[in-house]
Amino acid sequence: MRSNITALELNDDSSEVELSGLLPEPKCKAYTTEEGRVAGLIEGDAASSLRMLPSDVFNVAVTSPPYYWVRDYGYDGQLGHEDSVDAYVEQLMTVFDEVKRTLHPEGVFFLNIGDTYYSGNGQPHGSDPRCASRNFLRKKVRAVDVSGWDIPKKSMIGIPWKVAFAMQARGWTLRSNIIWNRCNAFVEPTARDRPYRQYEFIFMFTKNRFYSFDRSKLIEEDVWNIPIERSRRAKHNASFPMELARRCIEVASPVGGHVLDPFVGSGTTILSALANDRNVVGVDMSNEYIRSIKETLKADGLQDTPWSSLSNTIGQSSTEWDNWAGNRLNFRKPGKAK
Ligand SMILES: C[S@@+](CC[C@H](N)C(=O)[O-])C[C@H]1O[C@@H](n2cnc3c(N)ncnc32)[C@H](O)[C@@H]1O
Repeated sequence: MRSNITALELNDDSSEVELSGLLPEPKCKAYTTEEGRVAGLIEGDAASSLRMLPSDVFNVAVTSPPYYWVRDYGYDGQLGHEDSVDAYVEQLMTVFDEVKRTLHPEGVFFLNIGDTYYSGNGQPHGSDPRCASRNFLRKKVRAVDVSGWDIPKKSMIGIPWKVAFAMQARGWTLRSNIIWNRCNAFVEPTARDRPYRQYEFIFMFTKNRFYSFDRSKLIEEDVWNIPIERSRRAKHNASFPMELARRCIEVASPVGGHVLDPFVGSGTTILSALANDRNVVGVDMSNEYIRSIKETLKADGLQDTPWSSLSNTIGQSSTEWDNWAGNRLNFRKPGKAK
């Protein structure tokens, strides 16, 4: 579905704007810091919401989508509950095509994604009763519980790589499969006959072969040791750590650059971008999570600003862009003069 109005055409007032059209009505709201950085929040389905944003603007996108049949966010339209892996991958591609369109030609996309096991038992799967968003696994027969798949029961499906290959097929360049070593990962109560999963992938994709990247900001190479943050923002128990977002933002955008997260959840990417002096847009379909991010931004002293001010800001490159070490024009290829 497609909106017939673009964000750039929205009224220039600071009240929340609800877009009319065919959509599940994405709602936009923008905030500004004292220093003039802007944060935009869109409550709505990721693909339709991103369609409202201009092309070629974000330096970096960082996100973690809903994993396949791992949680229930409790509303219609959520991703992750498709009947087949192919349908799930296809849904993600619809969103990531929009990420690609809105990403700057030299932009970088960091995608954190985890796997799921095929149970094939025809029964709901026992799970951690302490985690509310995973409790549904105890009652509901998920697509991965249904028998008849063409892989043996108890197999890891390999979803991250299926997604990565689909991205390549759509023209993304896969530059790195960073291992996020979640040093303090949880015990998995149902994994009695295999190692607990301690790491996840963060795929690094680029829109073009030549792109911007500030290597001096890399703290580790392709194994990132970052503990899970136990304190939960917005009662969200699938958030990634601030440090993870910070690393992605710092290597792939200048100060004053523009950051996007199409599944922003508890707002980690928003808070990390603002803390690191960048502008940011976050999308989520959960009205509860968006409300909680708004409360946090207000409590942090941000002020309402018209959506047009967000559009104007992201419509122009950061003033640091030309001199930024990560700008590809400032790279020096070995053996070649700049
Ligand atoms: C893994 S969580 C993201 C967590 C986030 N990185 C953080 O640090 O809090 C995935 C998010 O996707 C949202 N979501 C699910 N389906 C969506 C859809 N169709 N459009 C937009 N957001 C969706 C969920 O509400 C959830 O907050």
